[in-house]
Amino acid sequence: MTATDTTLRMREFKLFQDLMYSHAGIRLSEKKHSLVQNRLRKRLQTLKLNSYGEYYEFINDKRNKDEFQNCINALTTNETFFFRHKNHWDYLAETIVPEWKRDYRPGQIFRAWSAASSTGEEPYSLGILLYDLIAGDSAGKKVEVLATDINHDVIAQAKRGEYGEYSLQKLTKLCLKKYFAASATPGSFRVIDKIRHIVDFKIHNLQQPLSNSQFDIVFLRNVMIYFDEKSKHKVMENITRVLKPGGYLFLGGAETISSLHNQYSYVRPTIYRKTSHE
Ligand SMILES: C[S@@+](CC[C@H](N)C(=O)[O-])C[C@H]1O[C@@H](n2cnc3c(N)ncnc32)[C@H](O)[C@@H]1O
Repeated sequence: MTATDTTLRMREFKLFQDLMYSHAGIRLSEKKHSLVQNRLRKRLQTLKLNSYGEYYEFINDKRNKDEFQNCINALTTNETFFFRHKNHWDYLAETIVPEWKRDYRPGQIFRAWSAASSTGEEPYSLGILLYDLIAGDSAGKKVEVLATDINHDVIAQAKRGEYGEYSLQKLTKLCLKKYFAASATPGSFRVIDKIRHIVDFKIHNLQQPLSNSQFDIVFLRNVMIYFDEKSKHKVMENITRVLKPGGYLFLGGAETISSLHNQYSYVRPTIYRKTSHE
């Protein structure tokens, strides 16, 4: 048996580059060569395959759909933590929620979408803030958070709702006490049920439209950086379709909307509002 060839050749790298682009809209630049090599090496070893080329053939065999997904999972970057980008949470708490409460009509539900939710810290932060400010212990449903990601592993992890020190770094002691319970794993905490019930997790590729939904706010943070202009445009079209007129869009620190900007007004850095007429 030949030993595993752990060098990712340039022509093999290009195959994975094309695959990530056509499936997820993610543009892996040549600078990501070692990252791709390192992240896929474990898969080759687990499957006892001899080269990256063999691995590429393996995942493209229709019988190995699960491994195709494992490859996508391995090549996404999932960095996140609770209450990341403080200015977003302040604006939500100080402006958007009070506006919504002022115009509230019985039966209305505040709907938020965490559109690249990773392991769940962002949608649970939304759940906590909206529970605190809107839902409380009131009877009847007043808030809903949809959390989606293309990576199956992070969605499974998010559903478990268990977090360690890194994820919890920005949480106040009061918040930890109110909305988390010590878990069986030492040093980890689990989001309590009344917050978990607000958040619904689903697998979803942002390159595809999301059906039958209308949101008051969409968090699309730290994911556009992985897309080129064409993928960004498609994602923005899909997002704009489900954001209510007057709804708010939140982007990550390094992100702006260049396409479809005429359908949004600028609120403050990384926060945009969809104009009321389409
Ligand atoms: C860096 S994380 C951002 C997490 C969170 N939004 C935040 O800002 O803390 C980026 C996430 O985008 C997801 N992602 C990448 N391409 C995607 C696509 N085409 N559709 C849906 N999610 C995608 C990745 O799986 C990853 O979990």
